[in-house]
Amino acid sequence: MVNLDKMLELCRTRQWKIEDLDWTVKPRPLSREEEIMIVQFFTDMSGIERLAGALFAEQERRAETPILREIFASFVVDEERHAIAAEKLANHYNVHQYKTYELSKDLQKFRPHFLNAVRHVSPEIANAYITAGELMLDIALLRSLNDFVNDDMSHQVMDLINRDEARHVAMDYHMTEYYASAAYQAKVRAEPSPSILDRARASWYVGNMFYHARPFMMAVFLAPMEIVDPQGERLREAIKRMQLLTAKPDVAKRPLARFMNGVRTLHNTPVIGDLFGNVLSRIVGAPSEFLVNLYSEEEAQRARQMSMEQLADEALAAKYTGAHHDDVPVKAATLGKSKGKAATERSSANLGVSGA
Ligand SMILES: [Fe+2]
Ligand SMILES: [Fe+2]
Repeated sequence: MVNLDKMLELCRTRQWKIEDLDWTVKPRPLSREEEIMIVQFFTDMSGIERLAGALFAEQERRAETPILREIFASFVVDEERHAIAAEKLANHYNVHQYKTYELSKDLQKFRPHFLNAVRHVSPEIANAYITAGELMLDIALLRSLNDFVNDDMSHQVMDLINRDEARHVAMDYHMTEYYASAAYQAKVRAEPSPSILDRARASWYVGNMFYHARPFMMAVFLAPMEIVDPQGERLREAIKRMQLLTAKPDVAKRPLARFMNGVRTLHNTPVIGDLFGNVLSRIVGAPSEFLVNLYSEEEAQRARQMSMEQLADEALAAKYTGAHHDDVPVKAATLGKSKGKAATERSSANLGVSGA
């Protein structure tokens, strides 16, 4: 488990400011098409970062201890900073102002349903959403987008965002372990169960969210990924990390993991998958790409034996394979940290937050 005192200390000491970065550097020359795409990507990224912020605000609201509350409150601050950084990047690359940019309509439609749903689902489910969302965002979208933009300003911002995300992902896995634990489940069983009305309300909100989830994912995630990750490598890597997390015995027992794994099994069953693939994809609100088995039995076996921190570290390491960091100077001098130090901050073990 993560050492929460050390984590909180890191949350306090590793804050940074948008103004710490040198925004005067000139962007590399972009074609008209590239500029329009990149500015739109960063515009939508700001919206996604704010969704992550809303989820952490929910985690903060329901935190069971003051230390967790403070950690999640700092993550809310981080995500708002990421949203502003994304807006600044959109501005930075909007050199020719070819058009007016606005948040994707599908993202705007999804947002209120998403906020309603996270307020009404259990903290365990809210944590599952943020864990999945951050894996997709960090391992797949941001990394691929940064490679695609291939420019110093974007690299500088992403390096700082990644520093924050290493803490977030470590906590996402920590909370996944906590919610799946026998101790937490016993605690939930001892509490009065929600009324039928509350359950009906939660189902209604979740159903509405799933309905809007698919177009949202297509517009702000899968369509950009087709451009910035045409081979689908990073997308598969992120989905694989989620699937491996649900291979952990305690996690696999939980209803959401059982449901998702059940749908995935059906989707991968000959005939059933061919006939009902679209229906299954609609039921879980996720495109078919998410419902393919991406790991071998050997990898699942290995994941089962690993600790949550090791799994979180491996997920974080996955996004750095072939990263730009080896060949592009990282401008972190203003933050009083060397490039070498930035590189060591990428795993939760190296974050120094592993419990005894
Ligand atoms: Fe973020
Ligand atoms: Fe995050």
